Amino acid sequence: MIEEEFKAKKKKSVVSAHATEENEVFENKLRPKDFENYIGQAEVKGNLRVFCQAAKKRKEPLDHILFYGPPGLGKTTLAMILANELGTNLRITSGPALEKPGDIAAILTNLQPNDLLFIDEIHRLRSTVEEILYTAMEDFAIDIVVGKGPSARTMRLNVPKFTLVGATTKASMLAGPLRDRFGHVERLRFYESDEIQSIIERSANLLNIEIDSLAAAQLSKSSRRTPRIANRLLRRMRDFAEIRHQGIITEKVVREGLKSLSIDGRGLDHADQMYLQILHEKFRGGPVGLSTMAAAMSEDENTIEDMIEPFLIREGLLQKTPRGRMAAGESFGKAGKMGKLI
Ligand SMILES: Nc1ncnc2c1ncn2[C@@H]1O[C@H](COP(=O)(O)OP(=O)(O)O)[C@@H](O)[C@H]1O
Ligand SMILES: [Mg+2]
Repeated sequence: MIEEEFKAKKKKSVVSAHATEENEVFENKLRPKDFENYIGQAEVKGNLRVFCQAAKKRKEPLDHILFYGPPGLGKTTLAMILANELGTNLRITSGPALEKPGDIAAILTNLQPNDLLFIDEIHRLRSTVEEILYTAMEDFAIDIVVGKGPSARTMRLNVPKFTLVGATTKASMLAGPLRDRFGHVERLRFYESDEIQSIIERSANLLNIEIDSLAAAQLSKSSRRTPRIANRLLRRMRDFAEIRHQGIITEKVVREGLKSLSIDGRGLDHADQMYLQILHEKFRGGPVGLSTMAAAMSEDENTIEDMIEPFLIREGLLQKTPRGRMAAGESFGKAGKMGKLI
């Protein structure tokens, strides 16, 4: 019963880090266009600046770059900033969208020299498509089969020198040969609270939303250290403020708003709460395997691994051990007392 109730609520969760269509227009509006406005990720930004300068100086395309990290941390945004800084075109596609070798071949042969090709969810590429990419990345050439039957032959076609920018939430699922062809691999990290606060304040400014700094600080703590969630929560708080509080987001509005969205002070939503509860109550804190956990939550393994666990691990509430998932930190040993924690 509790699981069904949870499923129904989960669909509406505002703290899911996945992009939604409804959100896309609004997300694009808030996307920083340059490194100056891209808050946090200092190390990644520092590296990318150097790579850009070097590429520009040599008048060569940037080395292929792979971004990895949980959803909503700014991978797509960085690809756009790179194109902007380099003054090149950005061609956007995704692993699942490329169904046949011909799809990727068509894109590659239509690129302009130095263009950036962004492939989102690159871990979901089909192997036949991936193989075309190997030679394209390495030799800027693709091998295509012409003709059928006994007269079929392979023809090598050159493609313009380009930069592949890949993004993935699961670097471990990337085939070795593909991963090895990236000159740079940059990992995005969860943001610090003060960085999320700055992102909230910047977004409020762009959307003409009034929010006081205490409220922004409080909201940042419930944003799962994720810009996409921070922006989404900001928008929801604006609704509460407009309807009940003359449009200004204050601490009181944030408190009330989060409460009615059932998000706790550290950003744990139903999915997280459910996960911890099951881990503690059903499995006595673990160790428990991913597939068992997925079955207990009636959720697919991907969602659990991508959306729920990274944040719980980051918060020190969960540990991945060779024997399985285990409760950790302050949640450890509190089996049966989860009410207090969550
Ligand atoms: N460092 C950042 N500074 C400001 N806003 C950011 C930053 N990173 C991400 N965002 C915002 O968060 C949203 C999600 O970012 P996105 O690049 O789409 O994430 P990802 O591709 O990793 O899922 C974007 O709308 C963007 O405005
Ligand atoms: Mg993205």
